[in-house]
Amino acid sequence: MADGKSEERSITLGQADGAAAKIPLRYLTRHGIIAGSTGSGKSRAMQVLSEQLADLGLDVFVSDVKGDASGFCVAGAENERNKLAGFAPHAIQTNYWSVGGRFAGMRFSVSETGAVLFSRLLSLNPTQESHLVIAFSYARKNHIPLDTTSQLLDLLDELIKTEQRGMSQSSISVIQRKIMALEESGLAKMFGKPDIDISDLKGLNVLNLSDARKDALATMAPAFLLHKLFEELPEVGDVDEPVLTIFFDEAHYLFKDANRTLRDLMVTILKQIRSKGVSVFFVSQDVGDIPDEILSQLSTKIIFSQKVLTEKGNARLRALARSFPNSEIEVSETLKTLPPGTALLSTLDGSGNQTAPLQVRVFAPATTMAIVPDQELRKAADQRLIAKYAERKAEQPKKSWRSDTPKKKAGEAVVERAVERAAERSERKNAKRTGPSVWDGVFVFLLKLLDFIIEALIKVATALIINPLRMLFKYLMKKPIRILYFLLLLLLAYIIFVNWTLISSYLAKLKIGG
Ligand SMILES: Nc1ncnc2c1ncn2[C@@H]1O[C@H](COP(=O)(O)OP(=O)(O)OP(=O)(O)O)[C@@H](O)[C@H]1O
Ligand SMILES: [Mg+2]
Repeated sequence: MADGKSEERSITLGQADGAAAKIPLRYLTRHGIIAGSTGSGKSRAMQVLSEQLADLGLDVFVSDVKGDASGFCVAGAENERNKLAGFAPHAIQTNYWSVGGRFAGMRFSVSETGAVLFSRLLSLNPTQESHLVIAFSYARKNHIPLDTTSQLLDLLDELIKTEQRGMSQSSISVIQRKIMALEESGLAKMFGKPDIDISDLKGLNVLNLSDARKDALATMAPAFLLHKLFEELPEVGDVDEPVLTIFFDEAHYLFKDANRTLRDLMVTILKQIRSKGVSVFFVSQDVGDIPDEILSQLSTKIIFSQKVLTEKGNARLRALARSFPNSEIEVSETLKTLPPGTALLSTLDGSGNQTAPLQVRVFAPATTMAIVPDQELRKAADQRLIAKYAERKAEQPKKSWRSDTPKKKAGEAVVERAVERAAERSERKNAKRTGPSVWDGVFVFLLKLLDFIIEALIKVATALIINPLRMLFKYLMKKPIRILYFLLLLLLAYIIFVNWTLISSYLAKLKIGG
């Protein structure tokens, strides 16, 4: 948080003790978190950061679950504090996206979402998930287009008909029923062509999910986007500034009850996406559902007051607070009393260590905090994008066979590992279900008996030989002269042993004589 006299570019979250609380852009190339209770100021902080990144000409993507961070295209109110900091109200050219038809349609082709995330969308169990992984891989190998949910349904039909090895009809039927339910709910609109072209994510982008937020599904859209960026963006190595910053609102929904495959996939995506210049900010009320593996990846931490509802959330937040180095601020206590709009900020220092937390009064956004009506947002949005993504295109033919083998995408290896793990898990389960035979039982008993005997022998040997020797050794080592005595004793014993016949006959003679 240097007050850079140099030309280092930074953004300012607000004020700390009257000075600007800056975050250099080079530290924003790492991932971050904005956490705090409802109404504590997370969305405003997200707005302030996004505005400044966009003003610096960087690309930003904001997933706005409640639709209350949509006012970027309208200038905010004058504010004395902002004025003093030279932070004037202004509007920003914004691309508005939606899953339905309200703005530019954000769509994904089913195949590029990846089987693991698509399984999460359908809430599949591990067995069903492994079926979906096989289906996705089958489509890729055979060049079967998999853009829409109806193409996925057709593919699953085909897999049943051709009786693919290891696939169970009942699992496939469940998947199909769940896809149909998705179509009923209208969320299938998220899939198809034209799918989002990542080069269209220039400038400030807001995905308004307020009409799709009935449930946790809304947070799948930013997850799909992350997966797509992970697969399509080239490596850029270590960059000085983030190429694209993604604010992932209500992120805890994605991880709630997530299985290990999903958690592993997200950790892999987060690790690799950084070298592609993408930085992710998780925004969450309840860090309790965000796995530790993810929290440990985060560098910039903006933590608002926390009246955590769940014990797990409280514990995770305290763990986050503990990751701040010692400072004058009593972090856990401070977090309970922070007023709305005030946060603890910790980022990295020059040597890459977490900085002590600063108590920051976050600026009011330069754009409006009010909810702007859809018509105004549509008017302000990029008309070219609205036109480009307005209509879902008709589907391509069902199948197109080619002889060449398609190149594996970056996510393929992760997914294949997921299949292997899923298969291992189901094998383990099956083994449990089948149960051991009588001979298995006898064999296990014999093994256990052998184990027991060996263990007993070791114990006896330890008690009778090793322990006394150890004690003797300790006793001798205390005074080196004892070693000499001991050696003499040994020599004497040896002499007695070798001459025992002679000695015993002499003793016998003595007895008779006596
Ligand atoms: N930096 C700020 N400047 C001015 N007002 C703020 C600021 N932060 C918060 N507020 C006030 O607090 C209200 C709630 O803030 P915000 O919407 O950011 O909360 P939130 O943490 O996103 O809540 P939720 O979890 O419910 O989405 C805002 O509408 C605003 O009135
Ligand atoms: Mg909010």
